Amino acid sequence: MVVSLATRAERKLDVDEKPRMCGEDKARLLRLKRRFSFHRPFLDNLSACAQFQFIMQNLSSLDRRRFLTRAGMSLALFAVPGAFAEQLIRTPAQTEGPFYPDHLPLDTDNDLIVINDAITPAVGEITYMSGRILDANGDPVRNALVEIWQCDNGGAYLHSHTGNAEKRDRNFQGFGRFLTGSTGEYLFRTIKPVSYPGRTPHIHYKVKAKGKDLLTTQCYIKGHPGNEKDGIWRSVRDEKLRDAITVDFAPLKGAKAGELAARFDIVLGVTPES
Ligand SMILES: [Fe+2]
Repeated sequence: MVVSLATRAERKLDVDEKPRMCGEDKARLLRLKRRFSFHRPFLDNLSACAQFQFIMQNLSSLDRRRFLTRAGMSLALFAVPGAFAEQLIRTPAQTEGPFYPDHLPLDTDNDLIVINDAITPAVGEITYMSGRILDANGDPVRNALVEIWQCDNGGAYLHSHTGNAEKRDRNFQGFGRFLTGSTGEYLFRTIKPVSYPGRTPHIHYKVKAKGKDLLTTQCYIKGHPGNEKDGIWRSVRDEKLRDAITVDFAPLKGAKAGELAARFDIVLGVTPES
């Protein structure tokens, strides 16, 4: 099963990114959003910057010119992610670890909860993991292949040398991929990561473009007591860098089954050739 970015509308994914916008910019964005009322639920779940990009991509060229003339410099500056490049913290690399799948699952899509059309879902706390892949200038990276892998709710990886292999959850996909579009957004439906012997909960990430590995890292749960005891988390000594890979797993607003949402933006140290 594929989880579509568009279906985030119904799920009211709470995007925590709050770029600074002046009141006038907000009013302009609101006016534009009114014209895109059909997309409104979808737009409401994107960051202001992603909303702007979406609108710009969908305006006719004439409208776009008219809008740009009216909007003036402040929103135009705001809309250029590169304008904030100096504030960007590059996501630190982390070890790949020994459990990148040595055999891929039958299904490698972005829904790790359901394998193909299976009826039984994976065990665990369902979590929507989303974020953007940005290059070193803060521009969204299109056609980045985002891969994640993690252990199941019982601590078993999709790997022949995993611990707890005999109890592995056969319904958990364990690995997934997402190819980014022009906004650099990605989305996975997976489980909240759990700890296993020697490690605090984490999700492994690998970002590739044109077959090249651009970044391998891990994402952690903010406030988890296991983090402080985890040698790999602690190996990132700079607090700001550690914060960049440690994110909130918060209840998804309006979710009936207690699903969670987490947002993990990845800033690459390179600008991939386009
Ligand atoms: Fe791991």
